[in-house]
Amino acid sequence: MPIAYIKDVGKHEGGQVTLRGWVYNKRSSGKLQFVLLRDGTGVMQCVAFKGNFAPERFAELDRLTQESSLEVSGQVRKDSRSPGGYEMDVADFKVLQLAEGYPITPKEHGTAFLMEHRHLWLRSARQHAVLKIRHEVVKACRDYFDDRDFTLIDTPIFTPNACEGTTTLFQTDYFDQKAYLTQSGQLYSEAAAAAFGKVYCFGPAFRAEKSKTRRHLTEFWMVEPEVAFATLEETMSLAEGLVCFILERVLQKRRPELDALERDAAALEKVAPPFPRLSYDEAVKALQAEGSEIQWGGDLGGGDETVLSERYDAPVMVHRYPSSVKAFYMQPDPERPEVALCVDVLAPEGYGEIIGGGARIHDYGLLTRRLREHGLSEEPFKWYLDLRKYGTVPHAGFGMGIERVVAWICKLTHLRETAAFPRTLYRIYP
Ligand code: 4AD
Ligand code: MG
Repeated sequence: MPIAYIKDVGKHEGGQVTLRGWVYNKRSSGKLQFVLLRDGTGVMQCVAFKGNFAPERFAELDRLTQESSLEVSGQVRKDSRSPGGYEMDVADFKVLQLAEGYPITPKEHGTAFLMEHRHLWLRSARQHAVLKIRHEVVKACRDYFDDRDFTLIDTPIFTPNACEGTTTLFQTDYFDQKAYLTQSGQLYSEAAAAAFGKVYCFGPAFRAEKSKTRRHLTEFWMVEPEVAFATLEETMSLAEGLVCFILERVLQKRRPELDALERDAAALEKVAPPFPRLSYDEAVKALQAEGSEIQWGGDLGGGDETVLSERYDAPVMVHRYPSSVKAFYMQPDPERPEVALCVDVLAPEGYGEIIGGGARIHDYGLLTRRLREHGLSEEPFKWYLDLRKYGTVPHAGFGMGIERVVAWICKLTHLRETAAFPRTLYRIYP
């Protein structure tokens, strides 16, 4: 008998197949046992008729517990009332393991309890939908850059460099030296851009975020394109294109998951280029008009980002922040050296920053001065400074946090559900 996945049972209509999976739910009506089988690709109702089994075999079905693993074989039958459109008439089955009392039951559980059981929580429909969408977002990122002739360059996780400031560094012993876990692959992507022109890195980033917020994990994934000769404006267009490409892909391929999450897809369908572009100056004025305490020169707080991002249907691109609130490598605007040629993209519906990037300093002298001003020693950045000695060119890029994008697309209140095994301030288990 052929082994099939639930998503493919339509191809076997009227035929016999074997399914392998876990008991999602179960009910019985004396003569019939209804087992909802979950196999990772779908959920399907398998119906066993008492008359077809010896009494002790039928009793085995009665004893099945939630999440018990089993194989079931039988005929696939169309049934318009079933969630997937098909049911199975069970002819035979084999229990692989009778699960112990499963901690996650259909009743409501608190978040702390669910996070403690994250390894099991992944099996529930909601988490399944979120992670399927995450997968689609990751795939879309890769396709977007691959289709545009970018070369993927994997950047290291151990590094001597503080890319995004010294306050969020995770330090670790590296034999007889010290190393940090990377905060961003950007500096290495810059080196790769001088070798390949258009590159991206895609990997985990680590930040010792000491504040407990719904927007921060200590470990997250970031995709970071870097393009030699690119301007800020070109980088903004690249970012806009990426966000649109991702949304289109998810809307095209992950409707059932968006529906399972009760995500209003219309809000995502409304997102279209061109995204509004707002200078930091304009953003500050708009925020002050709405009662924010922000003064020119200060960074936008989480609350400010929420307010701004609620004003538009599409992500808003805030550009030219004061250099003083940004990282050391930001290229100053030649017309106004106090602001940087940088951009933050804030997702709508109050989600806030999903992308940060801009043009990089390409002048050796200015870059060394900035390192000093930021209290960073030159020694570990020697290789990075070399890039400004051997054919330096203007270049730009950005980083997009996968979890932030997934949280927005799925309309989640907290980033923790966007990662299979999220790392947060107080949690490293499971
Ligand atoms: O704005 P950030 O800090 O920029 C950089 O790291 C640049 N080096 C990127 C570049 O230009 N290549 O971070 C970029 C994005 C943010 O917009 C956000 O989406 C995400 O990374 N991010 C986080 N996501 C989850 N948890 C955190 N603690 C995050 N910190 C940043
Ligand atoms: Mg940022």
